[in-house]
Parts: sequence; C-alpha cells; structure tokens
Amino acid sequence: MSDAAVAETPACEAGAGQSEPVSAHARMTRPRICTYPEGSWEILAKKWFPVARAEDIGTKPVATKLLDVKLVVYRTSETINVARDLCPHRGVPLSKGWVEGDEIICPYHGLRYGTDGRCNRIPAQPNVVPGDRFRATMFPTVVQYGLVWTCLDSEDGHADIPAFPQWTDESFQPILCPPVSMAAAPGRQIEGFIDVAHFAWIHHEAFADRENSVVPLYKTRMTDYGIQSEYISNVSNFPKALRHLEPEGFIWRRVFDIHPPFVAFLTVDFPDDGILKIMNIASPVSARETTLYVPLVRNFDQTGSLEDVYAFNAQIFAEDQDIVEAQSPEDLPLGTDDEAHFAADRSSVAYRKALRGMGLSS
Ligand code: FES
Ligand SMILES: [Fe+2]
Repeated sequence: MSDAAVAETPACEAGAGQSEPVSAHARMTRPRICTYPEGSWEILAKKWFPVARAEDIGTKPVATKLLDVKLVVYRTSETINVARDLCPHRGVPLSKGWVEGDEIICPYHGLRYGTDGRCNRIPAQPNVVPGDRFRATMFPTVVQYGLVWTCLDSEDGHADIPAFPQWTDESFQPILCPPVSMAAAPGRQIEGFIDVAHFAWIHHEAFADRENSVVPLYKTRMTDYGIQSEYISNVSNFPKALRHLEPEGFIWRRVFDIHPPFVAFLTVDFPDDGILKIMNIASPVSARETTLYVPLVRNFDQTGSLEDVYAFNAQIFAEDQDIVEAQSPEDLPLGTDDEAHFAADRSSVAYRKALRGMGLSS
C-alpha cells in the first residue's frame, strides 16, 4: 500500500518540525524486562521515534518494538495506528489478529478494539458493555518523511520531530531508503554516522581512500537543537565508479547537524551547487538493537536510478553495521574518561556530552 493514503502531517511541511497528533494516546511505564536503566528509559520514552515506513503498513498488523515495548502497527480507514502489542484480556499479541473496518480483532476470543483503544465488543458476552479495563493501549501517531512516528509517554501528543524542510521542497527529490536493523546501540550508530576519521578505513571501497586518512581540524559548535560540525576536506563523496565527475581540486564541505538523542543530519555540498542531505534516525528498538531509517534529499541527478541510491547506501550501512555490532561495550560509554579520544573525535565527544546533559546514563 502506498503511503499516499495517509497524508503527511502538514505542520512539518512548514519546516516547524512539529506536528499535530492524529490519534489517541496513552502513557506507558517502563516495561518489566528492559535493557535500558531506570531513568534513561523514562527520558527516552518522552521522545518521538519512527517505528515503520508508512508504505510498509497496510491493514495486516505488523509487530515491532520501541524501547523494549512490543508494539503493533496497522492501518485503518483514516489513519495509521500504533498500539501496545498486548490484548488486555489474556495478553495475546494483537499483531496475531486482524483488522476489520476500523477495529483490530484479537484472535484468541475475538475482542474488538477501536482506534481509541476502546473494546467495542466481547463476542462471548455480546450484551455486556466492556469497561475501561478492556481498553487497548494506543499511542499517538504522526506520519512524517514517509515514516510512522510515535511516543510512549507523550504528555500532550505534541510531536517534537526534527524539521527537514527540504523533504517537501520541490527543488529536491525525497528518497526513503529501506530500513536497516542492527544489533547495536542507537548511540553507537549515531556516533559512527558523525565520525569522519573512519571514512578512509571502513568506506575505502565505497568512496574514500586509505591514502587520504588525515582529518583536518574542523569546527564544532553547540546549537539550540544540539551540535553542529562543519568538516571541510578533499574526501570525495562520489561513489568510486563516478569519481571521474569530480572537478580537479574540488573541496568537499560536510555539515553535521546532530539532534540528540538519536537523529543526525549530514548535508554534503556537491559540485555545481548540488546538495545532498541525509537524515539518519537511529530508532531505539532496545538498548542493544537499532532500526536505522534514512530519508534523504538531493537537488541533482533526480532522474537517476533509485536502486543505485539504495544500493550505495546499503553498501555504506553494511560497512558501518559490521563495526558497530562488534564494538564493546555495547552501550555507548558516556563518562568523560571512558575510551580514548583524538582531535578528530570532537563531534563524538560533544555528542556524548549532550547525551549526558539530557540525563542519560547509557
Ligand atoms: S486474549 Fe485477546 S480476546 Fe482474549
Ligand atoms: Fe560510516
């Protein structure tokens, strides 16, 4: 099913980065089995994260997980719904059920739940009006950048999602790469995305060169949303097969805009005023599992093959995945003296500090 069936929430199109909720919402408490320490989970539960691509959601319920909470995502006539994947009657996952009209039906005893979570019918006792204890837990939902975003502990349903105004700018082509599942901490993934010293080593087949490993000093500054780093170098961003397109002596400018906890943008200036902007979202399935969502835009080569874009990004993500899944400890260390740093790590040192500043301990 196409995501055209569910309109993007217009508030973000204005670049405000804020959206109105489109469905009912509940607040969740830390699950019994949880990989996040107490305190960190409660902070992250107030943040919005994507849990699916809208185009992957139809009326067949899809099971997923966010911050160790099992969720079910499904489409009804007017919206995409995110609910706790748990029937309040006997704890069967609602993702094993199905959707009829605007109701999801639990497969065990056929209880039917509306999009507000209310149980509308108990087939074994059709004359009983189900009470509040039979209410399914629904979470607020916003579709933005082709992704279904939700929040486990939203106080008012207000969606605080980083703005990406180029996504709906007609001079840019919006592209949503297939999501990537990684057995790695989301903080480790984000730190890898903003790390410029690994290009020469991990991505030497994709776009960089081992002979060009020096990282010139670059600037990092704190902003109202987090951190911005500007990295100027001669490390090409062209795939190796297209390197001949690079003008002699071209200098590459990369700007990283980091929105803690788990979003980072990379804007790359290409020759002839070309711009590539990548939004890297590390959705925290748990403290040790990440689903990577990557909406990106470009204002050049817009008739080129999407398959080529997907393949190039998949190659880079696979190269990164191999590393972040192997790092130890699995959690991103946030202590000032944890691990050793050199000057090129200034972005990641600032990122760790920002996470600490949010009150996270891992
Ligand atoms: S467990 Fe869902 S209807 Fe009984
Ligand atoms: Fe990388």
